[in-house]
Amino acid sequence: MQFRSSGITDGMQEKALECFVRVYNCRSISPVARREIFAFMTRKALSADLRSKLLRSAKRVMKNAHAPYSKFRVGAAILLSNGKIFAGCNVENASYGMTNCAERTAIFSAVAQLGPKIEIRAVSVVNDHGVPCSPCGACRQVIYEFGPDAVIFFQGAKGPQQAHITELLPEGFRLQ
Ligand code: THU
Repeated sequence: MQFRSSGITDGMQEKALECFVRVYNCRSISPVARREIFAFMTRKALSADLRSKLLRSAKRVMKNAHAPYSKFRVGAAILLSNGKIFAGCNVENASYGMTNCAERTAIFSAVAQLGPKIEIRAVSVVNDHGVPCSPCGACRQVIYEFGPDAVIFFQGAKGPQQAHITELLPEGFRLQ
């Protein structure tokens, strides 16, 4: 209840807790740990301002998509932990398999500019059909590589949705 002002609802807290239990493989969580986890979530919550800035970047870059085959333009924007935002669109190819999704374009562009030590805090994805569109499996794995704690904003089946990367990609792959 005390976290309501942050925009984090009870339902979201419970979901995050379930995720935490799965990711860290623990049996139960004490009330104290619960409070700490929720406090952690609150600290990391994105402001509505940043969220809409990210969304605007994704919408803007979507217009640059090269999507003559699918006619489905996608824009993605990523927010890094240093506050910088990078954007990318889908770039298709006559050899269909060579297509690069918007999310990966944004991430690769950030790495090209800043190097591999980037940390993704959030990702926003939009498409020009206004239909449900969450990151594909390949993009989820790439997001996870640079943002194991990232939150993803996308169009879900019932409207705008947000999910932690580990909800979209349980058991993400990592080389030790
Ligand atoms: N696409 C993306 O760019 N991101 C997604 O999250 C889903 C799909 C692109 C790939 C392809 O150019 C087009 O959408 C249709 O699959």
